[in-house]
Amino acid sequence: MESNELIIEVENLAKRYGRTTAVNDVSFSVRRGEIVGLLGPNGAGKSTTMKILTGFQQASSGIVRICGIPVAARPMETKRRIGYMPENNPLPEDLRVREYLGWRARLKGLRGRRRRERIEAVLELCDLKRARRRIIGRLSKGYRQRVGIADAILAEPDLIIMDEPTIGLDPHQIVMIRRLIESIRGRMSMVISSHILPEIEMTCDRVLIINGGRIVAAGTPEELRHKFIDRTIYEVEIQGETDTLKGELASLNTALTLESHEPPNRDGYFVARVRAEGTEDWGEALIQTLGQHPGFRLRSLNRRQPTLEEVFLAATRRSWDTLLPERNGDVSREQRKPTMAREGR
Ligand SMILES: Nc1ncnc2c1ncn2[C@@H]1O[C@H](COP(=O)(O)OP(=O)(O)O)[C@@H](O)[C@H]1O
Ligand SMILES: [Mg+2]
Repeated sequence: MESNELIIEVENLAKRYGRTTAVNDVSFSVRRGEIVGLLGPNGAGKSTTMKILTGFQQASSGIVRICGIPVAARPMETKRRIGYMPENNPLPEDLRVREYLGWRARLKGLRGRRRRERIEAVLELCDLKRARRRIIGRLSKGYRQRVGIADAILAEPDLIIMDEPTIGLDPHQIVMIRRLIESIRGRMSMVISSHILPEIEMTCDRVLIINGGRIVAAGTPEELRHKFIDRTIYEVEIQGETDTLKGELASLNTALTLESHEPPNRDGYFVARVRAEGTEDWGEALIQTLGQHPGFRLRSLNRRQPTLEEVFLAATRRSWDTLLPERNGDVSREQRKPTMAREGR
């Protein structure tokens, strides 16, 4: 489904609120069919960026084009190509689900048979068929988010923009939203913001990490891991003495250390975490050395993939170190540290 057609082009975008720079020289593009995650801590500039993309706010400077059309000059045209689910999406409390979608469909210019068909299609896709007659004000947060997504995809726009679609949801509801996003994959391009890493990692083809109004890293989850993680953890399940293990690792290479280990199970095996500095792969050497050593019995070896969370922390730490000293403001370093929620785990 992916093509080289650019659905979003953002060039040197900036947004200032008085003395606050919410978005600072941001540039990126999104191709047709791509799902791009905008990841960053609270206050990073995610919502501001999305409001500018959707034409709900004006940029201080820079250019945004949606499907080649400049948003600033032709906002009505670009709005029609976007389904937007804002942060804390406000819905009319006293309307019924079907009624609300009917009203939204009319606003989006859907008529007659096509309107009825599209409403039925999104009710089905968002698993809202049985809730069609329920009053929105009485729906759970998970249902309400699905109503928001149903609205966003109603007119089959080229682009869906969702601002923190899983915020405030319980793990079960998060899984439902993730499946829903998965089922839309390929039909429309999507930009999804989150401060929750596992969400972004599971759903997105590409991630933009934003911090302090700037994009501090961009790439596939895989690329970002390579770029920002300069060590690997191997988990070995082994029988033997931990002191001997430490010695063996040290004599194999100075890059290797025993990071931690658990107490032995009933069968005498324990899990040891071996830390390898650098990007070299030590799997084979570890299997050889530990497997042939008379003091050990090796049962398994596992390379643990660094999580996107570690990547995020590495990328933002780097940005604090390299970008912030030249920025103004007198916030202490401690206060500026990103805080990450760990919902949905
Ligand atoms: N309407 C506004 N007026 C003044 N400052 C704002 C306004 N909206 C956002 N900001 C500031 O801009 C920065 C980015 O905010 P926002 O885009 O909401 O971040 P995020 O969505 O990543 O949490 C924050 O410092 C925030 O306080
Ligand atoms: Mg926000």
